[in-house]
Order: sequence, then C-alpha cells, then structure tokens
Amino acid sequence: MQRPSLSFRNRTVLVTGASSGIGREAALAFAAAGSNVVLVARRAKALATVAARARKSGAKVLVAPADVTKPAEVAASFRKAVKRFGSVDIVVNNAGVLIPSEVVSMKGADLQAMLDVNLFGALHVMQQAVTLMRKQGRGHIVNVASLAGRRGFSPLGGYCASKFGLIGLTEALRTELVGERIHVSVVLPGVVDTAMVSALNEAPETESMWPQALNMPPSWVVWSIFLAIRFKLAEIAVPPGGALLEKLASLAPGTTDTLLRWATDAAKRVGRSTRPGK
Ligand SMILES: NC(=O)c1ccc[n+]([C@@H]2O[C@H](COP(=O)([O-])OP(=O)(O)OC[C@H]3O[C@@H](n4cnc5c(N)ncnc54)[C@H](OP(=O)(O)O)[C@@H]3O)[C@@H](O)[C@H]2O)c1
Repeated sequence: MQRPSLSFRNRTVLVTGASSGIGREAALAFAAAGSNVVLVARRAKALATVAARARKSGAKVLVAPADVTKPAEVAASFRKAVKRFGSVDIVVNNAGVLIPSEVVSMKGADLQAMLDVNLFGALHVMQQAVTLMRKQGRGHIVNVASLAGRRGFSPLGGYCASKFGLIGLTEALRTELVGERIHVSVVLPGVVDTAMVSALNEAPETESMWPQALNMPPSWVVWSIFLAIRFKLAEIAVPPGGALLEKLASLAPGTTDTLLRWATDAAKRVGRSTRPGK
C-alpha cells in the first residue's frame, strides 16, 4: 500500500486499536510519515509485530498495551507516552468491537460489551487526551465512529447505538473546546476490509450480507484521518458523501426503513445464492 504523508514528522501519535485493521494501518502510516507512534490495544504480541514493521520505516515506537475499558490502563498508556516522548500531539481513538444481533433478541451483555469499548473506552481516551492536551496547550483527537452512528440498521442496532453515542460525545466535546487549540474530529467510515468485517461474514446473523468486493481498504480511512488533522475537519465520511446521504435519508425515515429492509433482504438472498457450493 502507498502510505499517505502530510508532514507529520516528529509528532507523537497515540493510536488505540493499533493491533489490527484501521488502527494498525494508521499507526504504520504515521510511522512512515516520520511520527513517533504509541501503540495501544490489549494484545501485546500483535502490537509487537506492528511495532517491528513501524520501526522498519525509521520511526520511534512505544508499545503500551491497555484495555480501553479500564481507565487506569488508559491513563498508564498516556503516562508512558509522555515519559518516552514528552507529549502526545495526536490521538487516534479507534479501538472498537461489533457484535451483530437483531434488537428483539439482543443480549444485554453484548450491548454492554460494545458500549464498554466503543463508548466508555473512547470516553476514557478522550478524557486522558484532553487533560494532557490542555497542559500542552494543543493537540488533536480523531474519534473513529462509523456511518452506522448516524442511521440505525439491522442487525447492527447495538453497534449503531454505541457509535451514535460516540458521535454525541464528540460533538459535545467540540463545543467544550471552542477557543482552545485542541481539535476533535470524527471519522465516519462505511464498510472497511478488516477483521471486524471478516468476522461479520462468518456470524449467522450477517453471513453473506455484504459482497466483500465492496469493502474499502483501511488506507482510505487512514487518508481521511490525515486529512481531518491536516485541515482541522470536524467530521469526515469515508466514502465522501456517505454522511450527506444519511442526512438526506433522515428527512424521510419511514421510506429509508423500507429501503434498508429491502436492501438487507436482497443482499442476503444474493449472498446465499453466490456462496460456494450453492
Ligand atoms: N471495519 C469497518 O467496516 C468499520 C466501519 C466503520 C467504523 N469502524 C471502526 O473502526 C475501528 C477499528 O475497527 P477495525 O475495522 O479496524 O476492526 P479490527 O480489525 O477488529 O480492530 C479493532 C481494534 O480494536 C482493539 N480493541 C478492541 N477492544 C479493545 C479494548 N477493550 N481495549 C483496547 N483495544 C481494543 C483491537 O485490539 P485488541 O483485540 O488487541 O485489544 C483491535 O486492534 C472501530 O472503532 C470500528 O468500530 C470499522
């Protein structure tokens, strides 16, 4: 993959969810752009592999394993980053989980697990980041939400709820930071080719729902993160226009419900008929 570069040399970038998917690609791209990178996720071994790749591009790398649902671990990862690099200039608040289920049969524990990571975890990271950035007098936080955070659809209702929440927190934080040199962007990706989506294709609720060929590469999201920081964008959708379509669709919610239901059923039928052995 050709890595994006928009002059991030010598900045320190902390990425959560850096062990896989979008977070891993973002960490490698910032490393290639000359940033110091701090890798945060639970799986230390996977982070070590990402760190080895990032160091090959000459970057200074700190592996700081943490579970974002645990505020003390998040705080420790920020402390380690400051001890090693002196500051954290950019935070890519990206760790996330997805458990598909229809609303009527959703298990409370599954919804809780998504809220714990996607909403509370992101909150813990934002709180640490803002506290540190206020001391530094500057910084940029990029929250990775989703187009699913602007329009609910099944069977991702719980995931949508967690990302709606994250967008709400992000917008509120932005108003709190007006006039300060701390910027907060929210990135809204559509479907991206990562482990999260591969797992969806194996779950009984969602198998064959989405043609893999339509998945976007994680590098598209990485570009949007770079652009959001470079141009201090409040919000950026991937693909561009995705969020605008959702805003237009919200003018006719009933019609959108019918269209989404029809599209979901059609995708399932097409997916089933094109599965190997069918
Ligand atoms: N893929 C898509 O289509 C898509 C679309 C829109 C938005 N997004 C969002 O993009 C972000 C990245 O997702 P992805 O697609 O790259 O998925 P992924 O490949 O499954 O990566 C998820 C990352 O989150 C980390 N994570 C999960 N729980 C964590 C916890 N408790 N503490 C710390 N880290 C944790 C995982 O690391 P460990 O397991 O090592 O902890 C992993 O690095 C998520 O917020 C997701 O909701 C994805």
